[in-house]
Amino acid sequence: MCGIVGFLGDNPEKILIDRLKKLEYRGYDSAGVAVKSQNKVNIFKSKGEIKNLENIIKTTENACLGIGHTRWATHGKPDEINAHPHLSSDGKWIVVHNGIIENYLTLKDKLVNDGYNFYSETDTEIIAKLLEYYSKSGSTLDAIKNTVNKLNGSFALCILHKDDNHLFFVKNRSPLYVAKNADNVMVASDVVCFKGFSEEYYNIPDGYYGFADSNNVKFFDKLGEVQLSTSELDLCEFESETTFKHFMLKEIYETAPSIKNILEHYSLKNNRKQFDKIDFSKIKKFKFVGCGTAYHACLVGSDMLEEKTNVECNAYVASEFRYSNPKIGEDTLVVLVSQSGETADTLAALELARQKGAYTVAIVNVEYSTLAKCADCYLPIKAGVEVGVASTKAYCAQLAVLYIFSQIIYEKMGLGSFNLDDLENLSKNFEYGNVTEFKLLADALKYNDRIFMIGRGVDYYSALEASLKIKETSYINSDTYYAGELKHGFLALIENDTYVIVFATDKKVLSKTISNAEEARARGAKLILLTCFDFKPHELDNFHYVIKVKNANGPLQSILNIVPWQIIAYYTSIFKGINPDKPRNLAKSVTVE
Ligand code: M6R
Repeated sequence: MCGIVGFLGDNPEKILIDRLKKLEYRGYDSAGVAVKSQNKVNIFKSKGEIKNLENIIKTTENACLGIGHTRWATHGKPDEINAHPHLSSDGKWIVVHNGIIENYLTLKDKLVNDGYNFYSETDTEIIAKLLEYYSKSGSTLDAIKNTVNKLNGSFALCILHKDDNHLFFVKNRSPLYVAKNADNVMVASDVVCFKGFSEEYYNIPDGYYGFADSNNVKFFDKLGEVQLSTSELDLCEFESETTFKHFMLKEIYETAPSIKNILEHYSLKNNRKQFDKIDFSKIKKFKFVGCGTAYHACLVGSDMLEEKTNVECNAYVASEFRYSNPKIGEDTLVVLVSQSGETADTLAALELARQKGAYTVAIVNVEYSTLAKCADCYLPIKAGVEVGVASTKAYCAQLAVLYIFSQIIYEKMGLGSFNLDDLENLSKNFEYGNVTEFKLLADALKYNDRIFMIGRGVDYYSALEASLKIKETSYINSDTYYAGELKHGFLALIENDTYVIVFATDKKVLSKTISNAEEARARGAKLILLTCFDFKPHELDNFHYVIKVKNANGPLQSILNIVPWQIIAYYTSIFKGINPDKPRNLAKSVTVE
């Protein structure tokens, strides 16, 4: 999604472009910068990749300040007009914005009545116009304060004024951070921008605004100036000896180190101490909430915990949770799972859970994220920075931490003792599988417009996640069904040579799943089986291909099931000439609802 960088210091162009490139992984479709010298502001915008912007930027003599933006279109198509920065009518206010202004149409109507003209389809342009409106009757800072008071929704803003050498910023329900070093100040929507710039940063709370000049950074809340303390910049990354062509592949191969990291972190008892604040005698149900891949992790985590504790557990898609009037209260523990910790729907679910008095636990990768900060308890997934839009190592790390979470709850409910043996075994024996064979499969799948995946129970969840990986990186329509549902409708879609991928790693339903697969084969389907069991040679004859994974003998099987499909999805996209790190229309961090 959108990214923001602001820089106060010499030669801002170079820094802005460099830092916007660090934000590229979040997904965007246009980019722009505004660069200011004492009395001049130059604006450059372009559609598409940052290198297009880089090609058109001209040096602004004596430049001392600048703001930059990568835009992921929400209001208006991705073009140069709608790209940020946006301008007031008098050209004095220059704004970049992440988030959504929910009342922008009402505000726009009022401004139009007051004689303002609009050149873009964005919600952001109204901010620039409002700033101009309010600056007619007050100081620059008053104009910012009055403008912000009118806005509903989520907004992180970086603002310049033509006649002022301060770098202004505002933060509300969309991430924004400030860092300074001896000479310069940087504002950014992701702390990855501060790498090599500063060892510490300010995490701006919601509702705060402020400005920086060459000597100072000042923060304000509704009541006046406030002092903030800094946090240490701690970007947990894995250095890889091999040079991978894409982050997606690099990150798949960081699964094993992530699991080792997790084991190391959670073997220490004090990491579980935070759960002492929860009164487990009151807890009657658990709700797991996430989006996309994180939701798939929730499905597995919910089953894991229910099996371990026999307490009611359910998983929800975050965008549905909020509006489904969930029955939650003081007897509920809501578990929010997210890689980024900034997914708008998941944050909204957290807010609702808190309002209703439920306990909240965040299972998150980005340790400085809003979700990590705002939940009652926080379990980091320790996967290191994940850049590829397709979540891979983070999914496996989420499953490992959900397993640990189930162990923690088991212990806290007095049902038995905390034990990581299964995860340790998995870590010791972890394998990525036969990549040559996965490449052959990817080559075969790339010619298909659609494929099907089936499974029962937890295998169905693996199929859902494998389908999502194939869809988002290869643009193949991969549909997932419960194996038992085949004959209730979707068999009608099976034609000769339709690929059906069968996940069969649960012993208690193995024969049932295989019979369902047979029903598809009898109608012409080509079956690809993923299993952890040995089959007799004549039984294997019915399968076009078999992927054999290790048997985790329990809830961690989902980790072993998905890794081959992450690799297959990666190669399918490569063979189709798609960049798997930046699938079309998608963003890494979905910060709008
Ligand atoms: O950052 P989050 O884990 O909250 O993100 C949730 C989804 O947007 C994310 O998992 C998405 O589905 C991925 N692109 C899947 O690979």
